[in-house]
Amino acid sequence: MNVRDKVVMITGAAGGLGSEMARLLCANGAKVYILDLDAEKGRATAEDIAGRGGFARFIRTDVTSEADWQAAVACAVEECGRLDVLVNNAGINIRKPVEEMSIDEWCTMMKVNTGSTFLGCKYAIPVMRGQGGGAIINTSSVCGLVGHKYTPEAYTASKGAVTMLTKAIASRYGKDGIRCNSIHPSTVDTPLVRERLQDAQFRAERVGEVPLGRLATASDVANAVLYLASDEASFINGAALPIDGGVTAY
Ligand SMILES: NC(=O)c1ccc[n+]([C@@H]2O[C@H](COP(=O)([O-])OP(=O)(O)OC[C@H]3O[C@@H](n4cnc5c(N)ncnc54)[C@H](O)[C@@H]3O)[C@@H](O)[C@H]2O)c1
Repeated sequence: MNVRDKVVMITGAAGGLGSEMARLLCANGAKVYILDLDAEKGRATAEDIAGRGGFARFIRTDVTSEADWQAAVACAVEECGRLDVLVNNAGINIRKPVEEMSIDEWCTMMKVNTGSTFLGCKYAIPVMRGQGGGAIINTSSVCGLVGHKYTPEAYTASKGAVTMLTKAIASRYGKDGIRCNSIHPSTVDTPLVRERLQDAQFRAERVGEVPLGRLATASDVANAVLYLASDEASFINGAALPIDGGVTAY
């Protein structure tokens, strides 16, 4: 997959899925900006990648802040002159069913999971259009495709909005050479769900949902991002790609 010298920005890449994406893209020759709230982990991830010979920079960013987005995009453009790929990956989950969730918690979920994706697109698109194109990859979830009885409704709603925001952007900005696709992982063992996966019954139920009989790995997800970011995906636009071993196939 050719991503050599592409300038890539990945949110929520201090750890979890985002850091795996950053490592794989750098290993394939991309220049990666890691955006995250967690400065300690973000710096350590960037230093680790740079220590292996890759180009990785950390920019402390709250992805719900418009000012932070403006500064981060300006920083990449100033240093590299362009922005080829944006991966809107940062996300949270407040684990409460709808009847126990406050409106403030609902709004927080929407702001972090959906609002950040909107802001990332808002500031990346003018740069991408000006240089003749680019690729945006939005991390949704299997819950952005189907309802799930154990997943908070607010999470599902926030990820469903990411799915449709992706298709809307693909439709409007394809003419500018900008591709926009979403990815939909099933459960992956990352800090987001690690505590819950300690519960043997919860883990067995999650594995039991998967026709291929195992949880997704961070590497499964990163491989899909590498493809969608690459030249080989140049005609893939508006796709919602499940990375779920078949969870949403039935
Ligand atoms: N792990 C799973 O099972 C799974 C499944 C489907 C989708 N996802 C999605 O994948 C994405 C990555 O999840 P993960 O599992 O790696 O989670 P994670 O908790 O390991 O990582 C999320 C990262 O986002 C960062 N972050 C949170 N709020 C932020 C903010 N306001 N500004 C900047 N950074 C912020 C965190 O610091 C963290 O580094 C999320 O969008 C998540 O919803 C995860």
